Amino acid sequence: PIMDELAGRQQRELALAQRLNIAHCTIVPGDSTAANGNLASLAQAASQVLADELPAGKSIVAVMGGHTLANVAEALTPTLAMNRELLFVPARGGVGESPAIQANAVSARMAQRTNSDFRSLYVPEQLTTATYKPLFAEPAIHEVLQLIAQSNVVIHGIGQALVMAKRRQMTPHVIADLTAAHAVGEAFGYFFDAEGHVVSKFPRIGLDIADLAAKQLVIAVAGGAEKGTAIAAYMHLAPAQTWLITDEGAADFVLKK
Ligand code: G3H
Repeated sequence: PIMDELAGRQQRELALAQRLNIAHCTIVPGDSTAANGNLASLAQAASQVLADELPAGKSIVAVMGGHTLANVAEALTPTLAMNRELLFVPARGGVGESPAIQANAVSARMAQRTNSDFRSLYVPEQLTTATYKPLFAEPAIHEVLQLIAQSNVVIHGIGQALVMAKRRQMTPHVIADLTAAHAVGEAFGYFFDAEGHVVSKFPRIGLDIADLAAKQLVIAVAGGAEKGTAIAAYMHLAPAQTWLITDEGAADFVLKK
């Protein structure tokens, strides 16, 4: 029975990867957005995939923020950096989230958990174009931006559009626009509808979805039935090598559609 269960899980992982048109899926039991759910198994699975898939030697690992990624950081251990030299950087500027789940905090925590290095990027999340352009030229920011551009590994979450818009304190006007445009998901500052059409993009500094195609390893960590629509929508935009780490809650939702 244990072997059957394993074979069944592997089949579902293959089916999900095929459905979403991406390279790999890992499905953990449970539903992380259910009332009694938590992010621990997703985080543990992410830690395992990193241990298996991170290349030996030097890597620059660009990470996004969010509760899921903050949990992934806590699941990492020093063994991850045993045959590796890891430098963690935030994938994008972001001081719009609460401090503990900002990309800067997650990146620093991943470095601390693995006895590795990190660099911070102190740039607010929501900036007008006129403000962020001159910031590129600042040496301290420029240096970190170059490291982000050189990153070979990216780890990120996927959010529900309205949950993220409210959490980032976007104006009622912006939220009304997102609703009118049927935005269902958010990743990397992009809001998109169920077909993966980008309905809004907030200028932020750092990695862009278009940059992901060139990265060696791209890991998306997102689970829960509530996030099912957002996850499926994002995969229309995701690079082909994306490795999704998710749970049964989200996998069931997507495979039953
Ligand atoms: O952009 C996506 C969000 O960072 C996901 O956040 O892990 O708190 O749901 P979460």
